[in-house]
Amino acid sequence: MKKRTFFKVGLAALSLGLAALLPKWAFAKKYGVALSKVPALKKVGGAVTIRLADTDLLLIRISKEEVRGFNAVCTHQSCPVAFKQNEIVCDCHHSHFDLTGKVKHGPATKSLKTIPVALDGERIIVGDL
Ligand code: FES
Repeated sequence: MKKRTFFKVGLAALSLGLAALLPKWAFAKKYGVALSKVPALKKVGGAVTIRLADTDLLLIRISKEEVRGFNAVCTHQSCPVAFKQNEIVCDCHHSHFDLTGKVKHGPATKSLKTIPVALDGERIIVGDL
């Protein structure tokens, strides 16, 4: 193998190796939401439901550094869920979920779908809906 070909093959393998280390959502379509458009998320403990790419998305400001995202549809029978008193609640049949999306009590048995969300200055980056 020629030195130049060897270098190209090595570079390609290195790129693939680095790509494997990145989280899956690094390659997904991403959406940016300005914090000014969702002022409830400027304060810790704030929450808002927005519609993005035909998906209802519940965003919760967990801490100064973290916003979490969930599909805002209950896993029981698809009613909307909302953030209430430090948990996520479905008012249809009263399922409760913790702030990781896990069921605290049913009738729902499956966790809420989590959506990758990251804070980037004055923007919220949402990926992989
Ligand atoms: S639809 Fe949410 S608990 Fe039934």
